[in-house]
Amino acid sequence: MDKLLIRGGRQLRGEVLISGAKNAALPELCAALLTDQPVVLHNVPRLQDVSTMLKLVRNMGVSAERDPNEQGGGTVRLNAGDLTRPEAPYELVKTMRASVLALGPLLARFGHAKVSLPGGCAIGSRPVDQHIKGLQAMGAEIVVEHGYMVARLPAGRTRLKGARILTDMVTVTGTENFLMAAALAEGETLLENAAQEPEIVDLAEMLIRMGAKIEGHGTSHIRIQGVEKLHGCEHAVVADRIEAGTFLCAVAAAGGEALLRHARGDHLDAVIDKLRDAGCDVACAQDGIRIASKGAEQLKAQSFSTTEYPGFPTDMQAQFMALNVIARGASMVTETIFENRFMHVNEMVRLGARIHVEGKVAMVEGVPQLSGATVMATDLRASASLVIAGLVAEGETLVDRIYHLDRGYDRMEAKLRGLGADIERVTGATA
Ligand code: EPZ
Repeated sequence: MDKLLIRGGRQLRGEVLISGAKNAALPELCAALLTDQPVVLHNVPRLQDVSTMLKLVRNMGVSAERDPNEQGGGTVRLNAGDLTRPEAPYELVKTMRASVLALGPLLARFGHAKVSLPGGCAIGSRPVDQHIKGLQAMGAEIVVEHGYMVARLPAGRTRLKGARILTDMVTVTGTENFLMAAALAEGETLLENAAQEPEIVDLAEMLIRMGAKIEGHGTSHIRIQGVEKLHGCEHAVVADRIEAGTFLCAVAAAGGEALLRHARGDHLDAVIDKLRDAGCDVACAQDGIRIASKGAEQLKAQSFSTTEYPGFPTDMQAQFMALNVIARGASMVTETIFENRFMHVNEMVRLGARIHVEGKVAMVEGVPQLSGATVMATDLRASASLVIAGLVAEGETLVDRIYHLDRGYDRMEAKLRGLGADIERVTGATA
């Protein structure tokens, strides 16, 4: 099992290339299922979750090739013309919940699909009941049998029908499933409380390139006019705002100056506002985001509450907390999206952090110094927060179980080393 060994105390300086967004690439790989024509995706990040999604679509009979000679982001060529098995098996779905994104496209194009229920995950129960509710509103008959969602159209119908969909809460992948299903449905679909994340906008732009008729993406109301068929397209995955936010917090905490090339400042307003309030200089330009920081001990801790986009992203909560634990003063971190997303807290306490959790709120009291220790990653963003803490802790920090990190970050330790961090991957059980 791989670990990351970090020796803290180095400032970070230089330039880092931000990869394509995991949470855009995953739905966009599923969007290729909507057509029998070739789809080319550029700037696809090299992540475990992307490899899992490629395995999933190949298992259906889709051809999916990643260009071998690409540096940085990769190009993936897909063709779902010979798709024979509109199914997503448990063995793959249990390792990546985003597999549920296959349900909408398969149902829309083939009229039936069999997708394993994802099961729970570390940060919460994360049901998919709203996905089912929305697709049923579009005419799908979905039953749960032996842990699978078995979906089909009623006898006599060959297409889903447009519907007005209002979910009990804003759901990112739910919105994405509905967008893809509605693109081929008969008539108009109106999403009344759609998610507004940049990854939704990027998916909609790709679907429009495939011939879909969509408007309002990026707002809470999205209107889709279904079409009979979608054609292939070429699309570049938008830059990953959460990877960018993670590096911003790393430079803020360690101190230094960096350019995050390709990062979109307009996708990170809530995080950038908090970093400026903390005392960092952050400038957004055409080529990326520049940040300068004197280091966490010079920064003022910031309270925040996670909420749906454009508010402070839940996927940045752990990383910003890593900054708060060694910034000056007390701060209150409130997690409103997931019920169990403070698992990094106990590991940070091992590094000397002072944090008290009451339900959805973590009270953080800044300490002058963290001391390196062995810590364990528990989920993707918690892993990233422990790396940030390790960059500033005195001595050595060993982050274990970093397969969590590899799911969502493209060569993080190489990028951090490129900025001057003393960090290396230690492989094998003995280490
Ligand atoms: C997406 O997950 C992201 N994943 C998550 O990123 C992100 O944390 C989350 O959105 C919130 O922004 C991908 O895009 C692949 P939701 P998703 O449906 O779509 C409840 C990361 O670190 N809910 O918006 O699964 C749910 O339990 C990952 O990159 C239902 O109850 O999240 C949660 O409390 C982690 N029933 C809330 O809604 C449903 O049917 C928001 O979930 C759907 C959701």
